[in-house]
Amino acid sequence: MEAKNIEVVDQESIEEEIDLEPVHKILDSFPSQDRRYLIPILQKVQAVYRYLPDKAIQLLMEVLEITRAEIFGIISFYPGLLITEPGKYIIKLCYGTACFVKGANIIANKIHETYGIHPGDTDQTKLFTLQTASCLGNCGAAPMCIVGEDTHGTIDPDKSIELFGSYKLEDAPEQQTEEVISK
Ligand code: FES
Repeated sequence: MEAKNIEVVDQESIEEEIDLEPVHKILDSFPSQDRRYLIPILQKVQAVYRYLPDKAIQLLMEVLEITRAEIFGIISFYPGLLITEPGKYIIKLCYGTACFVKGANIIANKIHETYGIHPGDTDQTKLFTLQTASCLGNCGAAPMCIVGEDTHGTIDPDKSIELFGSYKLEDAPEQQTEEVISK
């Protein structure tokens, strides 16, 4: 698997005000506070906050006795783990061959024209984060994308902006913290 580029954030320039109680609960939900559980712990932390806040990473470093470099080494191999807060909806646009041939790049261009974002970016209103994905496993329905929890196939590239326009900030689901921790 190819490691993604991680822009190391200037930690001193970011003072995050976050409640770390969910991180303590997540740590307590494992049989022991051991670095071998790091990946599922990171996944649960992200499920709570939608990304990995630096304060949460610092806490994991202390409790699991692990370095920042080790944690970022894991994050670099898991495209789904994010170190900055994403938009309310993550658009996963399939860039597999079938989808590309059917206009995935046209869709990406339209997203850029409309929301000013390239893959990896979040728009200014924090509505969308755009990501590309390898084959989503349903090439017969190319081009495909996933928006939040919704899967969309056979998207008409010319009408794709109408589809994305149906997603509104006020409709975004709230994260259920307790549910995430107990899973
Ligand atoms: S290439 Fe997009 S679903 Fe397979």
